[in-house]
Amino acid sequence: MLGDQLKSNIVLTGFMGVGKTAVGKQLAQLLQMEFIDTDQLIEESVMKIPDIFRLYGEDRFRREEMLAVKKAAASSNCVIATGGGVVLNPENIKALRSRGWIVLLTARPEVIVDRLKDEATRPLLQQADDKIKAIRELLDAREKYYRNCDLFIDTSDLSVSQVAEEIIRQLGIPAADK
Ligand code: S3P
Repeated sequence: MLGDQLKSNIVLTGFMGVGKTAVGKQLAQLLQMEFIDTDQLIEESVMKIPDIFRLYGEDRFRREEMLAVKKAAASSNCVIATGGGVVLNPENIKALRSRGWIVLLTARPEVIVDRLKDEATRPLLQQADDKIKAIRELLDAREKYYRNCDLFIDTSDLSVSQVAEEIIRQLGIPAADK
């Protein structure tokens, strides 16, 4: 399946805390592919993400995100982890899909809260007193965008390796390619 339609990238998207970066790194290692993280590209070319939000606001962040996505989408044979809001701009998904399969990782809101409890790097959740409510509201608002993906994997009860193996299985990558 990976070789179909000239698609050689695997793109991981989904809400904050679903494990895109951890799974992406493991998957890239298993498949001997390069790993790209669009949030990391933004931080390398601009500054830390919380600082972009604080100094310039979300709109500026989304513009920087679009540039990072364009750069990542132009690559081949890569596992690409995106930020959780990348789906909000259809142009992002169009660019990423031209050379890649879009894999949506999901998790139950309770699991997301737990996974992010020691994190202070998510500006969209930082202000919220009731984190689970904020997560539910954002998930609801994004649902229609997250539906526009090719593969869906609930990571709530799976380890990082199990998610990586499941992606390989669902993409039908033969053992020889692993
Ligand atoms: C965001 C998710 C973050 C980061 C930014 C905005 C979002 O990435 O891009 O804080 O809109 O969901 P992670 O999903 O890797 O946390």
